[in-house]
Amino acid sequence: MNGLGGGPLAIADLMQKTPASDTVRILVGDSRQVLGQIAPGTVQCCVTSPPYWGLRDYDHGDQIGAEPSPEGYVSNLVAVFQGVRRVLRSNGTLWLNVGDGYARNGGTGRSGPNALVGNTKKLIQQRNCKVPNCWGLKDRDLMGLPWRIAFALQEDGWLLRSKITWIKKAPMPESVRNRPSNATEDLFLFAKKPSYYYDNQAMREESGANLRNYWILGPDFSGVPHPAVFPRELARRCILLGSQPGDVILDPFSGSGTTGVVAAQSNRGAILVELNPVYAQQSRSRINQDLQLTMIP
Ligand SMILES: C[S@@+](CC[C@H](N)C(=O)[O-])C[C@H]1O[C@@H](n2cnc3c(N)ncnc32)[C@H](O)[C@@H]1O
Repeated sequence: MNGLGGGPLAIADLMQKTPASDTVRILVGDSRQVLGQIAPGTVQCCVTSPPYWGLRDYDHGDQIGAEPSPEGYVSNLVAVFQGVRRVLRSNGTLWLNVGDGYARNGGTGRSGPNALVGNTKKLIQQRNCKVPNCWGLKDRDLMGLPWRIAFALQEDGWLLRSKITWIKKAPMPESVRNRPSNATEDLFLFAKKPSYYYDNQAMREESGANLRNYWILGPDFSGVPHPAVFPRELARRCILLGSQPGDVILDPFSGSGTTGVVAAQSNRGAILVELNPVYAQQSRSRINQDLQLTMIP
């Protein structure tokens, strides 16, 4: 039995220091509700990347990221991370990767703000119809969403400990001429309490120095159709720094299951929550396949 599945959660199993490949659980549903099924203090470390506001369509009525206003988006994320804080151990951490976006007014055509971009069409159109009426945003303003989320979480009780810049080796090309092209994203480290678990020996600079707060990471072929997979190396660093073998890692926006794959490969258990059952099924297959691959010499 490999223990993968979306059935009722056996918290007792997850608390045991059993081999990680037996403890990856995928829960299908809205994180705002599903996290309530998990016992407090179950999770050591949460590693996640929520949908970015108005960017992609994850094809579900309850998806976060499709709110009419970015203010609603920020408060929905605060609600999810309240649920995360409840299930974290008192010395646990949250590693949150999130991207920014521009406020835009109208526009149509092949390259305007309403241009068709793969499956992102619907939400890009919604977002770009009108500059949101908040925060003094103007047409073409960078919204500063990662920091707005970080400040909202700080205000809600999280301790903000670090902002790591993920420098992308192969960023998405942008056809812009009046500003530098985007090639970075933010990753925040939050703690529940001032004294939290952080293994500074688990990941060092090549020189042996303490790890710096910029990570240069390349693209990572995952072989899954999900449109927004983050690199395994990003998840691996967070997991090794923030937990020990046998601990439980949580991803409340698990997508293709990258966090679960890396947690299991690092001898940790994992609880994954994904709203869209199609992605949940794809991640189940990916985890089964990737874990078998690691067992073949
Ligand atoms: C940016 S993707 C995560 C990708 C993931 N890090 C990976 O490597 O595959 C965000 C995911 O959150 C899911 N999602 C959106 N709203 C959700 C909600 N309310 N509860 C749980 N999952 C949600 C989406 O379906 C999407 O798969």
